[in-house]
Amino acid sequence: MTQTLQAAFEKTKSELTVTTEKLEEITNHFVEELEKGISPAGGNIPMNPTWVMDYPLGSETGEYLAIDLGGTNLRVIRVTLQGDSKFKSVNEKYPIPVPMRTGNKDDLFDFIAKSLDDFIKHQYGEDYKGEKLPLGFTFSYPAHQNAINHGVLQTWTKGFDIPGVEGHDVVPMLQASLDKLNTPVEVVALINDTTGTLVASKYCDTETIMGLIFGTGCNGAYYDFAKNIPKLEGKLASDINDKTPMAINCEYGAFDNDWKVLPRTKYDIQIDQESPRPGQQFYEKMIAGYYLGEVLRLILLDYYSQGLVFINQDIKSLQVPFAMDTSFPSMIEEHGPEYAGRLFKDTFNITLTKEEEKVISDLCQIIGTRAARLSVCSIAGICRKMNYKSGHCAADGSVFNRYPYFKERAAAALNELFKWNTDPNDYPIKLTHAEDGSGVGAAVIACLTEKRLLAGKSVGAKL
Ligand code: GLC
Repeated sequence: MTQTLQAAFEKTKSELTVTTEKLEEITNHFVEELEKGISPAGGNIPMNPTWVMDYPLGSETGEYLAIDLGGTNLRVIRVTLQGDSKFKSVNEKYPIPVPMRTGNKDDLFDFIAKSLDDFIKHQYGEDYKGEKLPLGFTFSYPAHQNAINHGVLQTWTKGFDIPGVEGHDVVPMLQASLDKLNTPVEVVALINDTTGTLVASKYCDTETIMGLIFGTGCNGAYYDFAKNIPKLEGKLASDINDKTPMAINCEYGAFDNDWKVLPRTKYDIQIDQESPRPGQQFYEKMIAGYYLGEVLRLILLDYYSQGLVFINQDIKSLQVPFAMDTSFPSMIEEHGPEYAGRLFKDTFNITLTKEEEKVISDLCQIIGTRAARLSVCSIAGICRKMNYKSGHCAADGSVFNRYPYFKERAAAALNELFKWNTDPNDYPIKLTHAEDGSGVGAAVIACLTEKRLLAGKSVGAKL
């Protein structure tokens, strides 16, 4: 490695390293911000009450449809809850055309309705004439809810930017597109993927305390008590008592938007400034799958501008924003430096030197490690807020499932914060693999909602 590339790499490494002390500082601030978020004044973290006011028992049964909108694909799912914490499901994926993410709202909702209509014809036959099928709509963006079947989009995240949706309830938009096609579906609940993950995982594993997503975005949900949420004071119906739970969709990707503690680098700042929503989702922009490949790309372009890498090579195709998704750093970390060489040749027609291969591979480790370490501050923050000493944090998403060592690194960082002094297998707070929140979770929530309605219980705020 040349002296200067080595020096640049060491500098990046130290900027991207998160020490135990920093983890402590961030976690402490997280606890304060979680409290602020549920206060009437609010804070950076929205802490959205979801009006999911029951714990799943595992005995729920019935057949439900769910759709999952929140990443690269739209997924439509048919779920049969069998009771005994068991379920069956079938699903189909419909890739969301890239221009649709920043296009027209009617196109998006018509696309969802058409996909659902096709799925129903496929699953139930062309001439299905039965009752309207209940649908749980998993909408994985921050939404303010006054009731379970209501959700006003607060801000688009993860690169979506469709005019005319922010500030509006998305449920009637979807229902109108479905009604235009006479699709026999009724949207009974609007769900965030994290809330779905919490509920689906708790349906199967009673020790679940959180539902977490480390995917295109990052976020988490947990159960608080409805009466412990100061901003709901005066809004709860009379059937709510001290023990009534309330799932909270934290939307903690927005943590530290006023930048008090996060160790943001110039690359993180650039990502934010070039995003459709600068000033938002600071935490998410350092952790989530939508951004990790971009961090690597910006570091390499910085080295290139200093004449440290890709000397005399045409790097035009690497100059395209988001030219590398997270599968790049994740696959490079999995397969090592030579794989980086092949990938850069095949994708960008850039020939790497052995030194460059090694630096890139090391950078991928550092980027992945930073994401894993930072991500546990939210988990530790929720545990401290709720005084959880043990339990399962059910996680899902491409970064959690596919970025090598993410889970191990996160567990190690949690141990630095909690100082358990035991074998990793015995850590009392464990990261577990979640059940399909957007499908099964949405179905369980739809079922819990139907039961509440039948029992005459509230499913939203007092009017
Ligand atoms: C973004 C969204 C949030 C979602 C998360 C994971 O943070 O705002 O609603 O839960 O991504 O998909």
